[in-house]
Parts: sequence; structure tokens; C-alpha cells
Amino acid sequence: MRSATLVLLLGSVSILSVACGPKKSAPVLPASCDVPWITANQSSAGVVDVNLTAAETDWDPGTGVPIHGLAYNGIVPGPVIPITAGETLRVHFTNALSVEGTTVHWHGVRIAWAMDGVPGLTQDAILPGQTFVYQFTVPDPGFYWYHPHMQTAKDIERGLYGRIISRDPAEPVVDCDMPIALDDVLLGADGQVVAPSLPNRAHGNLGNLLLANGRIDTRVPISKGGHTLLRLVNAANARTFDLSIEGHSMRVVGTDQGWLPVPYTTDRLVMAGGERYEVLVDGTGEPGHEYRVISHSHLDDPMELDPLPGDRPIFTLVYDQQQKNEPVPSFPPPAIPAWTPGPVAHKYVLNDIMQANGGMISTIDGKSYPNVPMVMFSGAGEPVTLQIENDASGMHPMHFHGERLLVVARNGTTQLNPGWKDTVMVAPHETVTLMSMFDNPGSWMFHCHILEHAEDGMMAMFMAN
Ligand code: C2O
Ligand code: CU
Ligand code: CU
Repeated sequence: MRSATLVLLLGSVSILSVACGPKKSAPVLPASCDVPWITANQSSAGVVDVNLTAAETDWDPGTGVPIHGLAYNGIVPGPVIPITAGETLRVHFTNALSVEGTTVHWHGVRIAWAMDGVPGLTQDAILPGQTFVYQFTVPDPGFYWYHPHMQTAKDIERGLYGRIISRDPAEPVVDCDMPIALDDVLLGADGQVVAPSLPNRAHGNLGNLLLANGRIDTRVPISKGGHTLLRLVNAANARTFDLSIEGHSMRVVGTDQGWLPVPYTTDRLVMAGGERYEVLVDGTGEPGHEYRVISHSHLDDPMELDPLPGDRPIFTLVYDQQQKNEPVPSFPPPAIPAWTPGPVAHKYVLNDIMQANGGMISTIDGKSYPNVPMVMFSGAGEPVTLQIENDASGMHPMHFHGERLLVVARNGTTQLNPGWKDTVMVAPHETVTLMSMFDNPGSWMFHCHILEHAEDGMMAMFMAN
């Protein structure tokens, strides 16, 4: 029944992707679990050395019209950096952009503060032609990503982001371990990135072309009776992805910072900007068949206008001819403490105020960055309880740098089996209760990961010690 509905809805596939889609004569790409991985240049025991360069790059999203954008190491998304949890990553970074200073932020990694990539706070901007060595230990298994923390909205939109997979040595080997960055990009009639106009920008820049790993035509292999692991990150400026897979359900096995203690199965997965989910797809389909992953338009704010309303394919699962009979892999469960909320150390209150010109002022605790008072979280070895209350009309995915947190309650309802998070959706009129040890010392950023909201002031600093 569900597939019948989908066929109907997909009749209205994006005008843009039809107009500039692959030409009929173009060969269909084979499915491949291979994505470009970075090559470590001289890993010594426990240290992974890689080179990373940001530069202006023309990249083809699969429409045949290259985007004059930006990229790490010439590809969008940037190369996947693989590491084993506990190892040290040493990134020899070069800014080869012609005019802009930049920094690299390692989203979600419980990193040493000085390596967090926040200009004016943890380091100076890396100017064009300059280099910088980022060296830090990745303490936890999980799926992370990296992106600039300067001109963030503009530069991520143009292609500057990449992924990091941190593995637990105890993880099982799956048939296909596929990191996928979900994105959308707003293109003008000439196929080039355009800035959103007001008031659309105020709700976050929604794109008019959906991308998985920088392409409209990404194909992921799967075998009947086998399992494909999708490691998903929402790298879009503002779009919340709401996904389903034709004919398949999704087994959610991990979230931002590692595996879930208790996996769950769902038909729809909603993920906001900056969030990650690991999804295991059981090969219940037919050999030789294809099943599309569908992105359902999901507006976070009633005032928002989606240039891509309805349901649209974003990538495709492609069955090979094999017939396997593999048991469901299980992933090493993390140690999640059974915390019960204590006194609330701080309650953040989010709001946004529409301006007469259609612009927006986004606030935390009644102020916009940099005027939001800094909050100190000091647990002294005990978990700290905090809350985020959203008084705004839209959802805000709030991201904490440097730490990991558990969502313990939403509107007072206890959340069972949470996993470690660093980016947390807070719906309008919702109050989320979070707990964290806040044991990674530093003065860190806390901001909305709808990048336009962060630019409009929904950003703050907190201290942990
Ligand atoms: Cu992914 Cu401060 O951001
Ligand atoms: Cu971050
Ligand atoms: Cu926001």
C-alpha cells in the first residue's frame, strides 16, 4: 500500500532535477559501497596523519552543470576520514581558498578545546595560503563530520564538508558500511548557488536540489538476506530530512556519538541539521531490484516555504544478484549511565523575532550572540541537568560543541534508551531535559544548527570544567 502511494507522489518529481537530470544516454552508475576515503600518509602507532586542503572547486552534482563551489581535497563531500576510537588524528590543513580565511570544526568529536576550530575563540582564522595542524584524539566511536566555522552557512552550502568514521575495534564487519551526507542546495536558473531571499532565509536556507554524497544519483549496494549500514549525517543548512525507504523499514542502531544501547525499527527517520543516525537496512528486497530512499518535505516552521514540497527520491538502494542469509549484525552497546534528572542547572529559552524587513533575530535567553550571557556548567564529577525551552514558532536543532549529552525527557516525559547526542531537536513549545558530565574542559559554542539561525544570533558560549 505504501509503495502505491509513493508511485503517485513521485509523479511530481522536482522540476529542477527533471530539467537537468542525467541525459537519457548516460550509463546508469553501478552501485558501489566505495566512497572516497582519505589516505593516511604516514600513520605511526595510534596516530593517523592526513592532508586536507580547502579550495575553490567546480563539482558536478550529477546534473551535468558543475557548481562553482568549494571542496576539501577537490571532492564534495570531502574525503571520509577513518579512525579507530582512541587514536589520534593529525590533519595537515591548507587553506587554498583565494580570498577567505577559514577554520575546520570537527563536529561532535569530544576534542581538545584548542583544536575545535572556532575562529576568535580557539584559534585565529587560517588565512589564504596558510596551513594549520589539527591534532587531537577521537575518544569515542561514532560518525562525525567536519566543516568550516567561518562563513559557515555560505561555505557549507557551496560544498565544504566531510565525514569522519570512528570505529570501535569490537564492531562487526557489515556487507556495506556506507557514510552518506544528506544535503540540499539552492541553485539559480544557471545551476549556480544563489543566496536565499527574505523572508525565506529567515527560516533557514532550503535548497531546490537534494543531494546524497554531493550527487542526485547516488546508488548504494545491498544483497538479499544481507545488511547495509547507512551512516547518515544531515549536512544541509536548514532542511530537516524525513526519510523512508520503499519496501523497507529502518533499524536505527546508532546516533550522533556512537551506537544505541537498544536499537529500534522505524518506517520514518527524521533528522535535523547536524544530527547523525546509523541505520541498518535488512536486505528484504528482491535481487536485481531497486528501492528508492524518499525524502518527505518536513517543515519546521509554519511560515516556511519548501522549494521541494512533497516526496522525492534522494538516493537508491540497488540489489545485486546474491542471496545471502546473514544474521543481523549487532553493535557493541555503549555504556549509557542510568541518570535521573537533578536540579536544573540552567534552562535555556529560545525565541525568534521577525523583523519588519522579513529578516529574523534569533535569541537565546532573550539575547543574540555575542550578547547571550555565558553559562557555566560544573558538575564536579556529577552529571549536570539542563533544559532547553523553545518559545519560537519553529524547531531548532541545538548543538553543543565539545561534550556529549543524553536527552532524558521531552516535555517531562522520560526518554527511554537514549544514545549520546551533541545536536538535539527542540520542537516549538517543547522543553527538552538533558544531562551531561560536562567533563571536557573549555569555553565552547552552543548554537542552532540551522546555519542561518546561528548567523541571526542563536548562538552562545558555555563553560565546562
Ligand atoms: Cu556543526 Cu558549531 O557546528
Ligand atoms: Cu560542532
Ligand atoms: Cu534554529
